[in-house]
Amino acid sequence: MKVLLTGGAGFIGSHTCVELIESGHEVAIVDNFSNSKPEVLNRIARITGKDPVFFEADVTDKSEMRYIFDNNNFDAVIHFAGFKAVGESVAKPLMYYRNNLDSTITLIEVMQEYGVNNVVFSSSATVYGESNKPPYNENMPTSTCTNPYGTTKLISEQIFTDATVANKDLSVVLLRYFNPIGANPSGLIGEDPAGIPNNLFPYVAKVAGGKLEKLGIFGNDYPTPDGTGIRDYIHVVDLAKGHVKALEYAVAHKGVEAINLGSGKGHSVFEVVQTFMKVNDVAVPYEIKPRRAGDLAESYANAEKAERLLGWKAELSLEDMCRDMWRWQTQNPNGYDTKNQ
Ligand code: WQD
Repeated sequence: MKVLLTGGAGFIGSHTCVELIESGHEVAIVDNFSNSKPEVLNRIARITGKDPVFFEADVTDKSEMRYIFDNNNFDAVIHFAGFKAVGESVAKPLMYYRNNLDSTITLIEVMQEYGVNNVVFSSSATVYGESNKPPYNENMPTSTCTNPYGTTKLISEQIFTDATVANKDLSVVLLRYFNPIGANPSGLIGEDPAGIPNNLFPYVAKVAGGKLEKLGIFGNDYPTPDGTGIRDYIHVVDLAKGHVKALEYAVAHKGVEAINLGSGKGHSVFEVVQTFMKVNDVAVPYEIKPRRAGDLAESYANAEKAERLLGWKAELSLEDMCRDMWRWQTQNPNGYDTKNQ
């Protein structure tokens, strides 16, 4: 298949690009490098031996998107492009609504102009909000999210759903990610957050690598076995493989389907830190800090539907995630900033 990846130079997009190429698909990427760097494209080529077709453009720019669709005959699209920092979304809600919703609407409009009817959307477990209790399943009501970023995912899911009602030829798979972490085992691509990482895993890796002094553990008084927050961590390569399966499902079906991509297992912050130190024989100094606003005690998936509908389940362990993340960190201490390697 010929597939367009919007935001395909990002963390999950680049890993999905590699898995698609390695599964024999043809890939084009559109990205404006707002949260990624051109070096990723070289790394994808080094891993796969293939240069994905690349367009530097903003998905909200309809004329740019028309140019891309004019020059390619896509079978499907995977829509990754969007801002994704929870904290930033609280400070800049209008920027998040404008960018994330405008890109979704523009993409669907242009897909329909060119008769492209298969799309996989990068959604998030955050749509389950606070009123549901884990393990989250796809039949649960998606409620109000605790932040504008999550709400843009919720509204985008609704936009895609309504579009399938209006256009019976449209096929949409909404992938609800849990906590994607780790890196491709080559160590050539990985997570490269701008500035100080918000998320646990990249923060741990930078502390272990001496780039940051100490990890702050946000609360050890949650109602969990060791008091720290529990999350469903999934290796980014497993997640990427789930996208290949979701694409094949979208092409073979019509309508809309929400599917969790999680391991179905929860791990606490302490477990992550201890596993990272043990597997990589490194120190991760930490201190206990107050809880972070908006954090849940527990979040993990009921992963049954992905196995039933896609024939997919997460296979890599927390140890694999820690090992692969450390290889990425040690081989790329400054991420893709190759000038300061
Ligand atoms: C994990 C655990 C923290 C940092 C977020 C988004 C979600 C998705 C994945 C996009 C929690 C604890 C964290 C730190 C810590 N992103 N923690 N110290 O919050 O589960 O999910 O990223 O789709 O939408 O909300 O991930 O990695 O930030 O936190 O103690 O410096 O680690 O309290 O228990 P989260 P996270």
